[in-house]
Amino acid sequence: MIIKVITSNPGKVKEYKEALSSFGIDIEHLRIPYDEIQTSELTEVVRNGMDQIKAKGVTDFIIDDSGIFIDALNGFPGVFSAYVQKTIGNRGILVLMNNEDNRKANFQCCIGCNLKGKDIIVLGRCDGSVLENEKGNEGFGYDPIFSHDGKRSLAEIPMKEKNMISHRGNAVKLLMNEIKKII
Ligand code: IMP
Repeated sequence: MIIKVITSNPGKVKEYKEALSSFGIDIEHLRIPYDEIQTSELTEVVRNGMDQIKAKGVTDFIIDDSGIFIDALNGFPGVFSAYVQKTIGNRGILVLMNNEDNRKANFQCCIGCNLKGKDIIVLGRCDGSVLENEKGNEGFGYDPIFSHDGKRSLAEIPMKEKNMISHRGNAVKLLMNEIKKII
């Protein structure tokens, strides 16, 4: 089976290729632009994005909207994670977190999948903390400042290991449970 992965993020493409291959699914990477509506829910962004893509006649695809939610910042940047990464970046987040003892954060990944005429939306989560400094060269985005085990950043672990514990890896597991019901 082949599923189209629609994203402009090469890091996500690599992770989906690795995560889905273990379920015998191949991916085709497509870049199809769609608008992300302003709302506080990742699932709403995904639901609306899926409608826009289906309106273009595309079927059997995955889209993904993700974000990091930092407790001490009341969940910021959350759904604004892409804009914040582009503007203040990881260094800006570390400045906001300077002298903050509560470093708890979680990453969330919402996958919207259209397959065989059905829409599936799942939300995967990874709890962890914001590190004091950027560490590691793997991964992308917030990986260098987020740790799931309080020691290593997600940019310090191999992608295969990241997929085993990450928000995206957990979302893929939930997705596969749903896909199994319709194939
Ligand atoms: P979006 O899902 O493409 O809107 O991503 C939101 C922001 O979070 C972007 O800046 C991404 O680079 C970042 N991001 C998404 N997934 C991950 C991840 O798995 N690790 C680190 N950063 C991520």
